[in-house]
Amino acid sequence: MKTEILRCLRDTDGYVSGQELCDRLGVSRTAVWKVIRQLREEGYEIEAVRSRGYRMAESRDVLSESEIRSALRSRWAGQNLIFLDRVDSTNREIRRLADQGAPEGTLAVAEIQTAGKGRRGRTWNSPCGSGIWMSLLLRPKFLPKHASLLTLLAAMAVGRGIRETTGLDCKIKWPNDLVLGGKKLCGILTEMATEEDTICYCVVGIGINVNTEEFPEDIRQTATSLYLETGATVRRAPVINAVMCAWEEYYEKYQETLDMSLLIDEYSEHLINRNSQVRVLAPGHEYNGISRGINEAGELLVETEDGQIHTVLSGEVSVRGIYGYV
Ligand code: BTN
Repeated sequence: MKTEILRCLRDTDGYVSGQELCDRLGVSRTAVWKVIRQLREEGYEIEAVRSRGYRMAESRDVLSESEIRSALRSRWAGQNLIFLDRVDSTNREIRRLADQGAPEGTLAVAEIQTAGKGRRGRTWNSPCGSGIWMSLLLRPKFLPKHASLLTLLAAMAVGRGIRETTGLDCKIKWPNDLVLGGKKLCGILTEMATEEDTICYCVVGIGINVNTEEFPEDIRQTATSLYLETGATVRRAPVINAVMCAWEEYYEKYQETLDMSLLIDEYSEHLINRNSQVRVLAPGHEYNGISRGINEAGELLVETEDGQIHTVLSGEVSVRGIYGYV
């Protein structure tokens, strides 16, 4: 009921009368009033005016199960939602849930991660109340070799989710970091459990710095948040919704071909450093070239001075613009 009331308040410009809420939900005035009181305790600013009803003031960023549910318009991604105030890592949580048989589309979201995992064995800074730390469970029917591109799809989904909810032109740093103002805004960690040549499940872990005001010293030069880029607090639930809706679209397209052919143009359009100089750092081999976008296999195309196009495979190398992190 909390979710329904939140949704009604959010979807209405102006006041919703108490009677209307009772009629829509088939409950008593007292029941509605109790939920309004709970929502206020959770931090929502809800005005109540005699003879007009209730109205949601432009609220602070509250993250809760009801808040996410009331924003969620996806068909399956995130519909089995697990919200945790605190967890070691949402990726680990999804692995535990997957082992217990949780369905595809299960989404774990946490307010704080005490052992957030980054790529290459690094930790992921996941403070309380300011980020989106979430992991999505997939149970693909395709072969394990096709799973490596999931991370590119996730980058596209986050990029689009952020553009739709904030209007910010967030870019992809190949293969899967999201960048704003030359700094990293989001990281993605995809993990997979296999048995012989079958995928048991995949976990797509997404960490977005949303309302972070300050980063630890060691990442201050390279990390940013939506708040630092805009100066305004951003509500996290609509971002989660937009990412889940975009994810469904990209994942379904990907399954048609099991390569990037239907997505190349859109991915490349948002690629940072496209048509500009990058430096490819491959083990024992470093070179400069112009980044030209990706191919169907999700490899980065880099054109060297002699006109040759090199394909850069993710995992093997790192690519930098010639100035700093991006
Ligand atoms: C990276 O190093 O760029 C990847 C960072 C991925 C962080 C996210 S936060 C949600 C999910 N849970 C984790 O422990 N890690 C991922």
